[in-house]
Amino acid sequence: MSTPTTPTTEHPPTAGRLLDVRNLDVTYAGGVAAVRGVNLTVDAGQKVGIAGESGCGKSTLALALLRLLPAGARVSGEILLDGEDVLTMKWGRVRAVRWAGASIVFQGAMHSLNAVHRVGDQIAEPILLHRKATAAGARKRTGELLEQVGLPAARASAYPHELSGGQRQRVMIAMALACDPRLVVADEPTTALDVMIQAQILRLIQQLVSEQELGLVMISHDLAVLSDTCDRLAVMYAGRVVEEGPARQVYEDARHPYGQALSAAFPRIGDAGSRFAPRGLPGDPPDPSALPSGCAFHPRCAVALASCATQDQFLRPAAPDRRAACVHVGTAGPADSAGPADPAGAAVTEEARSTP
Ligand SMILES: Nc1ncnc2c1ncn2[C@@H]1O[C@H](COP(=O)(O)OP(=O)(O)OP(=O)(O)O)[C@@H](O)[C@H]1O
Ligand code: SF4
Ligand SMILES: [Mg+2]
Repeated sequence: MSTPTTPTTEHPPTAGRLLDVRNLDVTYAGGVAAVRGVNLTVDAGQKVGIAGESGCGKSTLALALLRLLPAGARVSGEILLDGEDVLTMKWGRVRAVRWAGASIVFQGAMHSLNAVHRVGDQIAEPILLHRKATAAGARKRTGELLEQVGLPAARASAYPHELSGGQRQRVMIAMALACDPRLVVADEPTTALDVMIQAQILRLIQQLVSEQELGLVMISHDLAVLSDTCDRLAVMYAGRVVEEGPARQVYEDARHPYGQALSAAFPRIGDAGSRFAPRGLPGDPPDPSALPSGCAFHPRCAVALASCATQDQFLRPAAPDRRAACVHVGTAGPADSAGPADPAGAAVTEEARSTP
């Protein structure tokens, strides 16, 4: 994954690139700027995590990828799935792409599954519809999918309420895989599950992605889970990606003050000290219909400069293969964890200035 600092519209297609989101904006009715200028790429076999506090725009981004946003949401930018822009596709093509090109696993399987239909019928439905399979063929494929996610094929005859939370989430994953998508978007797929089942589901997702060379976009507020599961990690704040890079590096050595605060809120595996001293972030996330001026994080930022209240910041190189959107990044300031802050607060790069 990479997030270019300056949105452009003329990238050549890259071989093996499944998803290329360019300068995506989503505004809900009432001026709620939920996603702002997001760039994101996912290659075949790559697992990309999206992290951030509640309300930062993670689910909006996920829904936008498959054109599942409610009517009234204004969307601009490009969402290239295998080079084809999802935003300009005809509806018939969007419906085909939703299963065969990319599929989504939502949080809370109980709400996403239909309570009055057997789970096997629900898995078979897209196979019948999009694969034009016979009833017997769809039944066979349903059994295979259930076994692939670690459930006996006979569970196809169960109703959702007859399954545990973890089993239901496995059914959701089987449904997402039903038409052999190339990209899976998983929005908080394990949040409602206990830690043992959560670990099982995460292992399953990792295994399926690597066996089938899928691309994965996994959304969570839990940076520790994402750093364990994903190759790359993007941290969102107030609708923007404010930091991105290799997952473990972002988790263990965040460069953006918000990334640092988010990371400090989760205990480190193998670091007993952090388990007993998780730090919270003061203040609330901003209201996306009335965002603060300048850097949207400035009212909560411990290392803000006076200029942060007026100067917006955009992603810039923070280290090899890493980017962050902070005035201190690229200087010897606090976000680099080395030396004093830039006293003038004027370290806005040409890239930042030229980015709209
Ligand atoms: N249908 C909608 N209409 C108007 N505003 C919305 C709608 N859906 C979401 N929002 C707002 O958009 C912002 C982003 O919401 P979103 O659901 O994308 O956040 P999130 O990062 O997924 O949060 P969570 O971690 O709680 O799931 C929030 O302020 C939310 O209130
Ligand atoms: S730009 Fe300023 S307010 Fe924003 S994160 Fe960096 S120091 Fe904090
Ligand atoms: Mg969400």
